Amino acid sequence: MNVLVIGGGGREHAIIWKIAQSPKVDKIYCAPGNGGISKMASCVDIGITDIKGLISFARKKKIDLTIVGPELPLTLGIVDKFQENDLRIFGPTGKAAELEGSKAFAKGLMEKYNIPTAAYETFTDSDKAVAYVHAHEPPFVLKADGLAAGKGVIICQNRAQAFNGIEQILKDKAFGEAGAKLVIEDFLQGEEVSILAITDGEDMVILPPAQDHKAIFEGDEGPNTGGMGAYAPAPLADEKLMKHVEHSLLRPMLDGLKAEGRPYKGVLYAGLMITPAGPKVLEFNCRFGDPETQPLLALMESDLIELFEAVVDGNLSDYELKIAKGYAICVVMASGGYPGAYEKGKAIIGLDCNDDDTMIFHAGTAAKAKGIVTSGGRVLGITGTGKTLQQCMQKVYETVSKITFDGAYYRRDIGQKALHRLRK
Ligand code: AMP
Ligand code: GLY
Repeated sequence: MNVLVIGGGGREHAIIWKIAQSPKVDKIYCAPGNGGISKMASCVDIGITDIKGLISFARKKKIDLTIVGPELPLTLGIVDKFQENDLRIFGPTGKAAELEGSKAFAKGLMEKYNIPTAAYETFTDSDKAVAYVHAHEPPFVLKADGLAAGKGVIICQNRAQAFNGIEQILKDKAFGEAGAKLVIEDFLQGEEVSILAITDGEDMVILPPAQDHKAIFEGDEGPNTGGMGAYAPAPLADEKLMKHVEHSLLRPMLDGLKAEGRPYKGVLYAGLMITPAGPKVLEFNCRFGDPETQPLLALMESDLIELFEAVVDGNLSDYELKIAKGYAICVVMASGGYPGAYEKGKAIIGLDCNDDDTMIFHAGTAAKAKGIVTSGGRVLGITGTGKTLQQCMQKVYETVSKITFDGAYYRRDIGQKALHRLRK
C-alpha cells in the first residue's frame, strides 16, 4: 500500500513509526511532515488545509489510504472531499468532526443524549454573558466555541476575570471567528484522563486510558500548552470506570451522532474529568491526541494499518485489538518560552542516543544542511515502554538528559501522579 499521513507533529511521527512496521505498507508520504518524519517517509510540502493539493497528490501517487492527524482539515471536510474523489481516508466527515469544531454543538449533543458534562450556557451577546456571571458563583470556565489550538479555554477564579475573558473573546475577538460564540460552564474538580475509541460508526475498540499534562510547569502550574507529556495506561481509570465510560459516554455519543445523521468513523477522543460524582466530559476531539498517541501506539501490538482499514471498510465488529502489557510514557521537550514566544533554528544534539525501547518522536523540528534544528514550540516527544511505570520513566528521562538544544525545557514530573496512585 501507498499511505499518506497528513500533519507534521509528534502524533504523526508516532503514527508513521507504527505503520512503517506493517508488512502491508510499501511507501509512506507525509504532508508536510517534519525533520524526524523525513527519515521515515517522503515529506511533501503541501499544507494541511490545501485539500485540493492533497487530493491531486493522492491521485498522482496512487495513495491507497490517507490518515489525517490534526483536527483542522477534518472540520474542513477533507474526508468528504477525498471520498467524493474515490480516495480511501481515515477520519470523520466534516459534519461528524463538528463535535470538536464547535463546543456549543458538542455541549448541545451531550445534553440531548444525557452524557455527563459540566452545566453550561452559550452566548453571542456579551451583556447576557456578563449577566450570567453576575447570577452565578465562580469559578467559571470560558470557552471559545471554535478551534483555538487548545488555547481557547480560560479558567476564571473570580467574576473580574470572567468579565475580562468575556470581553477578550466576544468583543476583542482574541480567538477570531472561533470566539463568535462563547460557552460558559461550571468548573469541574478532579483529575483528567483521555480515553480514545477507534470506531467504524457501529463498533469501537478502546485504547488504554492515557493522561496528558497540559500545563507548562511541574505540578500542573502555569498556562496550558498542547500537552507536555503523557503516559498510559493511567491507573486513575480502572476497568470499572472504563466500562462506565464506554456505556454511558462513548456509546451514547456514537449512537447520538448516527441519529443526528452524522455517522462517525475515526478516533472518538473523550477528554474527561474524573470528579467525585463520576467522569464528566470536558471535550470530545475528532482525532488522535498529541502527545497521548505517542505512548498509546508504543503499547499497541496490533497492525495499525489493519485497524485503520477495518474502520474505513466498516469491519470492526470482530476486530481484536492487541495491547502490550506494561506502561509507556512520553516526555515532551519544548522550546524555551513556549507556550508564549520562542526562538527557532536551534541545533539539536544527541538525537541518536535512544535504544530499542525508546523512540525520539519529532514535533517541531526541521532537517537543514547542518542537521536537525528546532522549528516549533513542542520540539520532541521522548517515548519509551517498560514493564513498570517507574522503569519506563527512568529510561525516558535518561534519554531526555542526553538530548540538548539551546533553551530546551521539559517537565520532570510526567508520570508522578500515576506513581503516587500506584503506591497507594
Ligand atoms: P478543553 O479544550 O475543553 O478540553 O479544555 C482545555 C483544558 O481546560 C482541559 O484539559 C482542562 O484542564 C481545562 N478545563 C476545561 N473545561 C474545564 C472545566 N469545566 N472544569 C475544569 N477545567 C476545565
Ligand atoms: N493532548 C490534548 C489533545 O490532543 O487535544
